[in-house]
Amino acid sequence: MPRRSTDAEFIAAWETARGSVLEVSRLLGVTERSVYDRRRALNNRGILLETNPVRESAATYTQAWSYTRERQATVENGHVVVFSDAHFWPGARTVANEALLKVIKTLKPARIIANGDIFDGARISRHDPHGWGQPPSVKEELDACLERMHEIALAAKRGTPLDWNIGNHDQRFDRALAINAGQYEGVLERLADKFPEWEMAWSIRLNGSVMVKHRQANGIHAVYNNTLKGGLSMVTGHLHRLAVTPWADYNGRRWGVDTGTLSDPLGPQFEYLENNATPWTSGFAVLTFKDGRLLPPELCEVLDGHAYFRGNRVV
Ligand SMILES: [Fe+2]
Repeated sequence: MPRRSTDAEFIAAWETARGSVLEVSRLLGVTERSVYDRRRALNNRGILLETNPVRESAATYTQAWSYTRERQATVENGHVVVFSDAHFWPGARTVANEALLKVIKTLKPARIIANGDIFDGARISRHDPHGWGQPPSVKEELDACLERMHEIALAAKRGTPLDWNIGNHDQRFDRALAINAGQYEGVLERLADKFPEWEMAWSIRLNGSVMVKHRQANGIHAVYNNTLKGGLSMVTGHLHRLAVTPWADYNGRRWGVDTGTLSDPLGPQFEYLENNATPWTSGFAVLTFKDGRLLPPELCEVLDGHAYFRGNRVV
């Protein structure tokens, strides 16, 4: 039976193999399963071993992704506030938005993640208008987003990393430009250029074990399916339901999280619901990491016009 390698030997093998699990298992004479286990154990202690081969092979493609595929970050101890689906329109802040500012000021999170659909893009939707109602112009929506997102940045401690995972509605902004003025690539400003405080990507992976992205599965069991199929704790938006669903298997306990919506589900952005009953709920999620391990995720939830977090009325 091979001697158990030291952390330094394992990390050296990982670097030599450039993150190929198969190659690391050959180098150390251990099973691939034990390489995965060891990598996860190191990640849980805050030693993040990156999957370089994916990046390097991606770099060989002649065509790049429109947005960064996956960013990676480490949070050893502290909070990460994740909000999504703000669909900001001109006008007053929502209750959930007010609560978000207060919770950020109180918790002083290690990072803040906007998990998609911050911009709505009503006028550049591929769907027909509902009637004669006049949704705001792209400029009016953009101005609302700039104001609200800057407020959030100001509520955070100076230097707090701010992440923005692209949602399908956010995508409308760049897609409309690419369709209607494709020849102006590099001349016109993309959505990312308008928000230099926020780092945009499709997804961000925290401590190797928590994937945060706008959407994956659909349907009533989406949150459960996300963590089951993703194999990681998965934090998504898009469904506006605000929920935490635990799962456990041989890899231990993890969670699927739906970060709800920062908007008001009765807002004019959602006329397409035709006043149907909906499980949509205002709020956002707070992730807490202890020694690199995700603890049970918490929700700030709006109930009957007030926002509650950890048993206290925040707004
Ligand atoms: Fe969405």
